[in-house]
Amino acid sequence: MTALGPGAWPPAPIGTERLVLRESEARDRAAFIELFASPEVGTYIGGPRPRDEIERAVPEVPGRRPGLFVIELDGAMIGMITLDRRDAERPGHVRPDAGEAELGYMFLPEAWGCGYAAEACVAALDWFADALPVEPVVLSTQTANDRAMRLAAKLGFTEVGRFEEYGAEQWFGVWSPVTPSG
Ligand SMILES: CC(C)(COP(=O)(O)OP(=O)(O)OC[C@H]1O[C@@H](n2cnc3c(N)ncnc32)[C@H](O)[C@@H]1OP(=O)(O)O)[C@@H](O)C(=O)NCCC(=O)NCCS
Repeated sequence: MTALGPGAWPPAPIGTERLVLRESEARDRAAFIELFASPEVGTYIGGPRPRDEIERAVPEVPGRRPGLFVIELDGAMIGMITLDRRDAERPGHVRPDAGEAELGYMFLPEAWGCGYAAEACVAALDWFADALPVEPVVLSTQTANDRAMRLAAKLGFTEVGRFEEYGAEQWFGVWSPVTPSG
């Protein structure tokens, strides 16, 4: 992610009630491969990729970049959260100069339905609001992706618009940090 303030990345590991958000490490490689190969995970995000192709493509330390948090439960990776700059060429923007921070989330199916994604996203958004105060965060997901839609609403994202992309209807929303008044 560009334009993070000096020293903003990587942050020290962030602990929540049940989880840890941290930079990726070599020991996460198998979980990354599982995420990209899982048909359930891929349903609304372009489909899974063949496992042997992923095995070849995933580096020794996968996902080592600013804005990518590995989410750990009891010492093992269960998913990841990304905060990346949204490509100016894509539809959906809230700033005239584009390049908004965009939230993404992907968890292993065995970790769904426990509130882990919500717990981790709240912590990531808190971190972001501290690192880059006043910047909005955007998110887009297929409207058919019920779980992702419910999570976006729970996190406080509000709809900006809908459009077609990748042959499906997409929901595009924005989240802004609550600034104390007075
Ligand atoms: C999108 C995704 C992260 C959502 O995961 P999730 O586990 O459904 O999301 P949450 O963390 O909000 O958990 C909500 C569920 O946990 C349940 N839950 C159980 N214990 C809970 C607790 N202690 N606190 C909160 N919720 C809890 C909720 O009731 C809810 O259950 P429900 O789905 O049966 O209604 C996941 O489906 C995923 O990785 N999908 C594949 C990748 C993808 O499509 N990403 C989106 C791209 S835009």
